[in-house]
Amino acid sequence: MDRLDAAGGSEAESSVSLTFDGEMSASEVERIKRSLGARTALQVPTAVSAAYGRARRVGFAKSSRPEVGALMAVLAAAVPAGGRILELGTGAGVGLAWVAHGLRSRSDVEVVSVEVDRNMSELVSSAGWPDWVSLVVGDAREVIPTLGTFDLTFLDIPGELKASVLDDAITALRPGGQLLIDDMNPYWRKFRKPIDGCDPEQLLEDPRVVCALLQYSSGMILVSRLRD
Ligand SMILES: C[S@@+](CC[C@H](N)C(=O)[O-])C[C@H]1O[C@@H](n2cnc3c(N)ncnc32)[C@H](O)[C@@H]1O
Repeated sequence: MDRLDAAGGSEAESSVSLTFDGEMSASEVERIKRSLGARTALQVPTAVSAAYGRARRVGFAKSSRPEVGALMAVLAAAVPAGGRILELGTGAGVGLAWVAHGLRSRSDVEVVSVEVDRNMSELVSSAGWPDWVSLVVGDAREVIPTLGTFDLTFLDIPGELKASVLDDAITALRPGGQLLIDDMNPYWRKFRKPIDGCDPEQLLEDPRVVCALLQYSSGMILVSRLRD
């Protein structure tokens, strides 16, 4: 078991994220929570733990936080039969592992993950995925318009690139489809000043969508595309 994220401060101490190499009993989780003074504990599935391990081995430090991944798993589970999920920025495959966790044994959903770094994409590919997962090597800015439409998109490329793909990402959302944009804290901490031209809150004015600002963990914007 690894303790992944237990920052200081009274609020953070009440929420600790843990990784487990295997399933743990409820009583064991309770014992660990008590020993850490935690009120909640987020169990990270084994495949996600393996993805964090992959990231550590190659020195990749930009994997999604467990709270973000857990939300992705929840959203993935709600995707209808015949649905499609897109991730922009595969990284070491942490988000992908959460999505696969949310889908459990389903095989009626297609998942596409795009990564510009061929080495990272090959590393993730070598982990082995269900055949409904496709890893695409390419620049998200170029490939989104070629990939079709999606019920759920995880926008997780670096901040300065987010704005450049936002319009295409919304256009590619199916009616009722959802978009989760990660890593908004750097933007919010700079008093909502655009980072290198990126102003994701322009979404709040977009008539095609409804948005919620999720100001916890790494900071996210959750977007739903209106049905026509
Ligand atoms: C924050 S990390 C992704 C983390 C991953 N989604 C996860 O859940 O752990 C951002 C990734 O975007 C990739 N990236 C950067 N620019 C890109 C682009 N233009 N198109 C696609 N991927 C890009 C980076 O190589 C990096 O792996």
